[in-house]
Amino acid sequence: MKIALIGYGKMGKMVEAKALDRGHKIVSIIDPKEEKATHREISEESLSGANVCIDFTHPLVVVENINKVSGFGKNIVVGTTGWYDQLDSVKEEIDLNKTGLIYASNFSVGMNILFKLTEYAAKIFDNFSDYDVAGIEYHHNKKADSPSGTAKSLAEIIQENIARKKRINYDKIDRKIEDDELHFASLRVGSVPGTHKILFDSNADTVELSHTARNREGFALGAVIAAEWINKKIGVYTINDLMNEVIK
Ligand SMILES: NC(=O)c1ccc[n+]([C@@H]2O[C@H](COP(=O)([O-])OP(=O)(O)OC[C@H]3O[C@@H](n4cnc5c(N)ncnc54)[C@H](O)[C@@H]3O)[C@@H](O)[C@H]2O)c1
Repeated sequence: MKIALIGYGKMGKMVEAKALDRGHKIVSIIDPKEEKATHREISEESLSGANVCIDFTHPLVVVENINKVSGFGKNIVVGTTGWYDQLDSVKEEIDLNKTGLIYASNFSVGMNILFKLTEYAAKIFDNFSDYDVAGIEYHHNKKADSPSGTAKSLAEIIQENIARKKRINYDKIDRKIEDDELHFASLRVGSVPGTHKILFDSNADTVELSHTARNREGFALGAVIAAEWINKKIGVYTINDLMNEVIK
């Protein structure tokens, strides 16, 4: 497959390496600032020959990028986050041009498997009220937000699938926790790239699901797999659509 990279920062470079590993060709690298880019902006010429584009840029430019790419009739993988409030107008544009788009706030293959395992485990533990459930995430001390977006997704999956958990609490709790509360805590320490754990705990034992990221490679691999999947498709999809198709 022929890929155009939009954004050649930390993720763009990693996606390039993963795409080459998987036998794809990078036909253009579009970035207004990076010296090694082949083009400064998206145009018919910079996208010519590409089957799919992969965008890892910035929330302020990504929607314009999507609209341009779709206007030139190309499909796109959107790794850039922070634009989902504009999803409706983006869907209209994609439908109008009959192109394809797949997006995810977390393209990590391992993490998307953890999402599915958490959903499955939560459905099972819903039947066993002896088990309580909680989550914890660890990240490096440079991370600006807490809890992580991924922790929120995990907590929401648990809440949707365990009827006795009606509220999520991400804060410290200076009182006894209520039975219907799901506690999901955050810890910031050193250089940890990102660890998320789900604990199902009873008097007898603890069942633990855990994902530990070593680096950002998992995101890049997921984005390239998504590019292979969205090639020739029409419509707007999320990584969940891809996962559901792969594991059915
Ligand atoms: N979905 C995921 O799995 C996932 C994983 C990691 C990062 N991200 C997101 O991806 C985005 C990029 O992350 P990063 O770490 O690579 O950032 P980065 O700052 O290292 O790179 C962004 C690059 O985009 C370029 N850029 C800016 N405007 C552009 C435009 N109009 N056209 C083309 N290129 C443009 C910049 O010059 C820069 O080189 C962020 O929104 C980040 O949150 C998503």
